[in-house]
Amino acid sequence: MDDIPLNKLNTQIEHWFQRFCDRNIAFGRAEVRERLREAKRAIKGSGAGSGDGAGTGGVSSGVGGGASASNGAGACIGASTGAGSSASADSGAGSGAGADSGAGSGDGAGKGGACSCVGSLPAAWRDEGEFSSLLELKRAHTLRVVAYAGDIASSLNLPDEDICLSRIIGFLHDIGRFPQLRKHGTFSDSGGENHGKLGVMTMCDEGIDKWFPSSDFEIISTSIIYHNVHVLPDIKDARALTHAKIIRDADKLDILDFITENIGENFYNIEQNAIPGDFDDHLIQDILDHKNLSIKAIKTRADRILFDLSLIFDVYFPLSYEIIKRNSYAEKIVSPYIGQHPAISDIISSTIRYIDERCVQSQ
Ligand SMILES: [Fe+2]
Repeated sequence: MDDIPLNKLNTQIEHWFQRFCDRNIAFGRAEVRERLREAKRAIKGSGAGSGDGAGTGGVSSGVGGGASASNGAGACIGASTGAGSSASADSGAGSGAGADSGAGSGDGAGKGGACSCVGSLPAAWRDEGEFSSLLELKRAHTLRVVAYAGDIASSLNLPDEDICLSRIIGFLHDIGRFPQLRKHGTFSDSGGENHGKLGVMTMCDEGIDKWFPSSDFEIISTSIIYHNVHVLPDIKDARALTHAKIIRDADKLDILDFITENIGENFYNIEQNAIPGDFDDHLIQDILDHKNLSIKAIKTRADRILFDLSLIFDVYFPLSYEIIKRNSYAEKIVSPYIGQHPAISDIISSTIRYIDERCVQSQ
């Protein structure tokens, strides 16, 4: 089969992505309805309402929802197994734009009816509307990441084919979120499956690996597998390393957009957001040292704020820093908390200095 030029594949992937979203939302909604029906049947059957039969029906029954074994392409297998060895925690890069919500947030049985079976389901499985809006958030997030990735690649004066490849990786980087929500009812990588790994499996299930020369598919897989790890591992291939960095930057820029546009709201909808607590002195020091925090270190809402800020310290490219500076992300994230810890003002000035230095280095 002749190789299709990457600019054509860019368009092909864009169309595929929109269909993939539509399909997963439709199948997922049907699964939510089925889960609710099962939950209600279980409570009727038991008469007690303690039923645990909910949530077993229809998981991943639709096309594109499963994370079954890959179909044999070397990159699929290699990338999938590679993900298993990337033991680092989520960077949180996947946590923005509505991610990580849903799991165990426990806001009642919702519209599904007041029975404990329904209440025991993850929030995303109790309400079709909630389910689709979470996936629509991912669709919108993805489209913005595609734009950022293309802009970063252009700013690096990469060849046209690499600009196209960066956009393709943008379209594909979060497709694992779709089976993740359908299978586990959550966007939490720790509570379900890692969405980077699921993304590569999904590409193989969808036959997307066959669309690309194997060298390009290796780069796509590597970039997706590592887009959400805490620390990017040593990637020997220079082109793969560049693309892995581009997608990490593009993803973070949209997360920072989302975080700063929704300051003060419990948009994470996860436990840590609700737990009050003082700013932790060790984490404060890590921030002053410009360290990228691990999500594993996050225990309270205050920790989460520092974690959000620390995304800035894991960004690679000049254009990304210019966008961070232009949008005053650091100030927006932390300034509401001036007075809650003596170091907050220092954190702001030190982070601004850090950003300025990286902008200057780029000139
Ligand atoms: Fe993302």
